[in-house]
Amino acid sequence: MLMPNRRYADLKASYLFRRIDERVAAYQSAHPGQPLYRMGIGDVSLPLCGAVIRALHEAVDDQAAAATFQGYLPECGAPFLREAIAAHYARRGVTLDPDEVFVSSGASDELGDILDLFSPESAALVVEPAYPAYVDANVIAGRRIVHLASGPENGFLPAPDGSLDAGLIYLCSPNNPTGAVYDRAGLQAWVDFANRRGAVILFDAAYEAFIEDPALPRSIFELPGAETCAIEICSLSKTAGFTGTRLGYTVIPRVLERQGMQLHAMWVRNRTTKTNGVSYILQKGGAAVFTPQGQREIQENIRVYKQNARVLMEALDRAGLWYCGGKNAPYLWLRCPGGMDSWTFFDYLLAEIQVVGTPGAGFGACGEGCFRFSTFGSPADTREAAARLAALLG
Ligand code: MLT
Repeated sequence: MLMPNRRYADLKASYLFRRIDERVAAYQSAHPGQPLYRMGIGDVSLPLCGAVIRALHEAVDDQAAAATFQGYLPECGAPFLREAIAAHYARRGVTLDPDEVFVSSGASDELGDILDLFSPESAALVVEPAYPAYVDANVIAGRRIVHLASGPENGFLPAPDGSLDAGLIYLCSPNNPTGAVYDRAGLQAWVDFANRRGAVILFDAAYEAFIEDPALPRSIFELPGAETCAIEICSLSKTAGFTGTRLGYTVIPRVLERQGMQLHAMWVRNRTTKTNGVSYILQKGGAAVFTPQGQREIQENIRVYKQNARVLMEALDRAGLWYCGGKNAPYLWLRCPGGMDSWTFFDYLLAEIQVVGTPGAGFGACGEGCFRFSTFGSPADTREAAARLAALLG
């Protein structure tokens, strides 16, 4: 008889963002026609930029003519996109062989799939509050999880310490949900720790494009020694508005080995077995992000989201709430007023002012009592949400 994976029973009944959707849907069916201001999931509101749209159209035309038609592409990514990404890193002083860049269908898919590289016997260290898929994917894989709580006392950027026993280390910087960003010394401490311990860091860099302070590292590979202990997982979702289009990339250095096994070669083996890669059309659109025009245009969109952050911060200041983030990251992390728990605050905001956020408890136990706002909404919705927040809480 077939045995199901019983570890699913150890998960919460539904994934965080699905739970939010369910609560919002229940509210909407009880209040039809009521407008909502969505600052919950980090889903972008601005359309793809012109350079990407033109490239996508051209790629569709390529598929219409025998001379330019593309069938299967290399599973690990089209050379033109891998080269464009490697050149993008080179402009920031990081040397990569294009083959060390793997094109993916997005960071969230990759964060789950990459676990195929590691034995379930190696524990995973998750710095919390954390993107909930880190924990859920490891529960499904049957891996022991070491939860490392962070808080305002360490700026949500804990340092490694000798008592931590895990083979896999999740770091997300700029951080989802707190917006905290490791500086070079803080990240170097983790790189040195991982090299000493023979651990591997899964570095989630999905929000690197939001870093505005040039002293802060945007890639873990800016730090010496990272090539022997880190895998970097990136996404065009937030950088370039690809949440619905789906495209990302993962960097695995060739020199990254554990117990005589080269993780790069293992991932090539995995991808060539389990996928036929990302579509030609999307990879062409993705390559346009790395052109000078594409870079200028995505920066214009990021500026809009940063202005949204300022609008929300002003409202939180008026309400007198403690918060962090919003400067080098597209999320604001705040303390719920009056000692409310985070799902109660969620329901309160939804019922009173129709603003949707994300309860901090969804990012781990130490997120209880806190709340996250995304700055990816439309400017008009963000202004309205901010005005409502200030009026309700100010
Ligand atoms: C978030 O809101 O945390 C992210 O947008 C979710 C995701 O990227 O899957």
